[in-house]
Amino acid sequence: MAGMLKFASPLIDEATIAGVAEVLRSGHITSGVWVERFEAALSEFVEGRPVRALTSATAAMEVALQLCDIGRGDEVITCAQSFFTVVNMIVKQGATPVFVDGDLVTRNIDLAAVAARIGPRTRAIIPTHWPGSLVDMDALHALARRHRLRVIEDAALVIGSHFHGRPVGAFGDLVTFSFHPNKNITSIEGGALVCNDEAEARRVEVLRFHGIERLPDGTRDVAFPGGKFNLPDVNARVGIAQLASLPQFLAHRRALVLRYFERFPADRGCVLPPRPADGDGQSWNMFCILLPDAMARSRKEFRDALAARGVATGISYEALHLSTIGRRFGYQRGDLPNTERIAARTVSLPLHAAMDADDVDRVCAACDDLLPGR
Ligand SMILES: Cc1ncc(COP(=O)(O)O)c(C=O)c1O
Repeated sequence: MAGMLKFASPLIDEATIAGVAEVLRSGHITSGVWVERFEAALSEFVEGRPVRALTSATAAMEVALQLCDIGRGDEVITCAQSFFTVVNMIVKQGATPVFVDGDLVTRNIDLAAVAARIGPRTRAIIPTHWPGSLVDMDALHALARRHRLRVIEDAALVIGSHFHGRPVGAFGDLVTFSFHPNKNITSIEGGALVCNDEAEARRVEVLRFHGIERLPDGTRDVAFPGGKFNLPDVNARVGIAQLASLPQFLAHRRALVLRYFERFPADRGCVLPPRPADGDGQSWNMFCILLPDAMARSRKEFRDALAARGVATGISYEALHLSTIGRRFGYQRGDLPNTERIAARTVSLPLHAAMDADDVDRVCAACDDLLPGR
């Protein structure tokens, strides 16, 4: 049998490895000139908006909530079909998460449900964009403007996706990216926050480094307890090379997605992600299917059987409102049916730039074997 097909696998070329060695030998390995270069390249990528690098998208989300001054007594509306980062950072700020459902196919936040949950304590909306189809940003920002709400886009999965021809991050309010190794590009660990203006970006610099402000007399002061979220140069050196390769990585992932759509046994009751259309400008980070409800094998048995055939898989995501932290806010099973169905039946199949079409064929053949109704 061929070796195990990993669920995610970053592609780091030899030039990048040599570049990292140079940084390591330079004597300056934490935040410095490479972070500045990475931030400048990211800023260029989002049409000149200020960007600051952080140690993760989770750190970027925490700092974004702090920039919006969100805390105790405030409510933040978000989709329960997302990663733990979102609920964790809202709760860590002392605010209350208000969960709404997502679409069964695109998995994006239900904007009608968002509108219905806006109340006097609502301060912000956090949508998570999904690969293959973005949240309708025109409708979301119109709603946010109408109610004077901040929007923090969780764009961890979608760097390189476009809305009306413009890259995610180039417009809107605050936007977070992740450079974890299973994302479209990696900086080992890392993330970024796209800001509205230089004043906000300077505030991020304070919040990501202990909250330290430098005083005219050369001493330092802290008024707000900041984090320690500055990205090291070693990571930035990787990130900058990866950003340059993003177009190739995305083209490769998209070709693999098209192959999935050609080869996946489509008539066996699975819900597939949105089918790519020519020129749709969408990036693809994961290929998440929903297993049929009526299936003798449990999801765990299905995943174990795939693993036995050499295919690693993931789950994206559990239902945030039903997590122990989510239930603290009074949510229960049945509240958000699409999110709960996705959480129970989703399986993420391998999709990364280190795979080729044969790998996709292997995954699809294994699914063909294991899905009901053959
Ligand atoms: C949708 C989403 N948001 C945020 C994050 C957090 O990213 P990071 O690991 O960079 O903190 C993830 C990570 O998987 C994610 O999937």
